[in-house]
Amino acid sequence: MTVHFIGAGPGAADLLTLRGRDLIAACPVCLYAGSLVPEGVLAHCKPGARIVNTAPLSLDEIIAEMAAAHADGKDVARLHSGDLSIWSAMGEQLRRLRALNIPYEITPGVPAFSAAAAALEAELTLPGLAQSVVLTRTPGRASAMPEGEKLAAFAATGAVLAIHLSIHKLDKVIAELTPHYGADCPVAIVWRASWPDQRIFRATLGTLDTAVGTTLERTAVILVGRTLGSDEFAESRLYAADYDRRYRPVGASSPFPEAS
Ligand SMILES: C[S@@+](CC[C@H](N)C(=O)[O-])C[C@H]1O[C@@H](n2cnc3c(N)ncnc32)[C@H](O)[C@@H]1O
Repeated sequence: MTVHFIGAGPGAADLLTLRGRDLIAACPVCLYAGSLVPEGVLAHCKPGARIVNTAPLSLDEIIAEMAAAHADGKDVARLHSGDLSIWSAMGEQLRRLRALNIPYEITPGVPAFSAAAAALEAELTLPGLAQSVVLTRTPGRASAMPEGEKLAAFAATGAVLAIHLSIHKLDKVIAELTPHYGADCPVAIVWRASWPDQRIFRATLGTLDTAVGTTLERTAVILVGRTLGSDEFAESRLYAADYDRRYRPVGASSPFPEAS
């Protein structure tokens, strides 16, 4: 028996790995994390599977479900939105399962920030403009931010920021970032990326109507950075015709002749 933690993706039912889909279809028990996991993903569940929304459950109750399935020898599909490596509360479940000697495996998923970048048709890292993306959030009622992980500290690097769980504080986010990036820096908000009702707002830090933050319910990523919507960047050296590389040696003096 195994508890399969599966990244259920950002919303679209077909933005799920084949492995994730097959595991969901094979497990007699499915525990899914509330409103963000779409019904289309649950449609892959085995007929007759026990399907439980864990949103109203405590950690103790969730682990009790897993322990009961373990006692019955039944595999569990445990679904969280996006990928499991960020803001999934998987870590605390894994720790409990280790203590109980209940086996588990992890299948990654498509994170919301990737779906948001796809919706924006954006490569977030462009030569000369930004080569780092910071996945971050602002403090929440249940989650303080560690000292040092302030938005301003990340902004000082000039990296692209993908800010989660913060749409309701859009005005504060914009005020904190503007001194670092400048009022002309592009900002984009993708609400419910990949869902049928997805919405996109593009502006600059100086022109964004922060009232947007009060009209959108929760599920949005705020992206800030110079690479958003810019055509003013250098081409990558990797594909330059004169760039000597293992898979495309250039000239007789190339140190990579064996690949030719
Ligand atoms: C609890 S976190 C889950 C993140 C998830 N594990 C991931 O990999 O993206 C929830 C936050 O992710 C973002 N989010 C999740 N799904 C989204 C979507 N489809 N579109 C935009 N933002 C989304 C929002 O910022 C939301 O507040």
